[in-house]
Amino acid sequence: MQNDLMDQQAIHHLIDADMQKVNEEILAQLNSSDVPLINQLGIYIIQGGGKRIRPTIALLAARAVNYQGELMPTCATFIEFIHTASLLHDDVVDESELRRGKPTANATFGNAASVLVGDFIYTRAFQLMAKLKSLKMLQIMSDATNVLAEGEVQQLMNVHDPDTTEQNYLKVIYRKTARLFEVSAQSAAVLSNASAEIELALQSYGRYVGTAFQLIDDILDYSANAVELGKNIGDDLAEGKPTLPLLHAMQHGSPNQRELIRNAILEGGKRDIIDDVLAIMAEHRSLDYAMARAKQEAQKAVDAIAILPENIYKQALISLAYLSVDRTY
Ligand code: FPP
Ligand code: MG
Ligand code: MG
Repeated sequence: MQNDLMDQQAIHHLIDADMQKVNEEILAQLNSSDVPLINQLGIYIIQGGGKRIRPTIALLAARAVNYQGELMPTCATFIEFIHTASLLHDDVVDESELRRGKPTANATFGNAASVLVGDFIYTRAFQLMAKLKSLKMLQIMSDATNVLAEGEVQQLMNVHDPDTTEQNYLKVIYRKTARLFEVSAQSAAVLSNASAEIELALQSYGRYVGTAFQLIDDILDYSANAVELGKNIGDDLAEGKPTLPLLHAMQHGSPNQRELIRNAILEGGKRDIIDDVLAIMAEHRSLDYAMARAKQEAQKAVDAIAILPENIYKQALISLAYLSVDRTY
């Protein structure tokens, strides 16, 4: 199976026409208001790149189960809107200055504008959802978005807490990231009236890919090249956010190393201790540990969709799962 893996370009090529409709719908929605800031800030964040991974999963899943309707681009659009709104809020909460290689919307337009345009995009997502006239879609999407917010609150409570457990961390990343991936894939099954088995398979696929994706995000915060990543490195440490690599290094470190990391989490690691932390992580192979966990999740995602009919779109979903743990940005 591994031999037939597709690269990113080949995957995207399969859904080119669908994604073009998504991009058109995104622009039309952002242009719909006569309040100029909505359009300016909305275009700024949404045209600023982004991997469009959630819409990609939704569109591929729909093709994989042979969905015949016309609703998928709208569905992929509101999923990307929920994600975009959450990023606008996230960069305010995290006081982030760089995203997608550009100053964040909050750095450019200010916190108030970011939060409020985030609210516009977020509520527009639900207006689009209502157009689908599917109560089940409304249910799964509103549940997922609520859990997303819940995960962020839970994470807020873990910040500066060096006693956070790995289990707690995994629960946070399920809530804040994997859940939206889960419903992105699931939506294809729901809109196609697929069997419960197919729906569960796609849901599980999304959940595992989303978990892998966030594990990699948390690794890249320590290991990436900032220019390539388009975000600042070391933000999690600076915020005192106990992600998996840091928790692993703390658990396996010597008493002195443990103390250094505990203090970094408690106080927020000053930028000048990142090299010490990286050295501790290297000694205990903490990034390798987190990477191995991510790879396990990707494999679980692939296994979850074994029951899907064999076709090129399923192959693309499989390839995407592996690629999500093999990325540098
Ligand atoms: C990125 O995580 C952010 C999220 C996964 C979700 C953020 C969600 C909220 C702030 C809740 C508000 C939600 C809505 C729908 C309005 P990160 O900060 O770990 O990653 P980063 O490195 O990309 O910033
Ligand atoms: Mg953030
Ligand atoms: Mg955050």
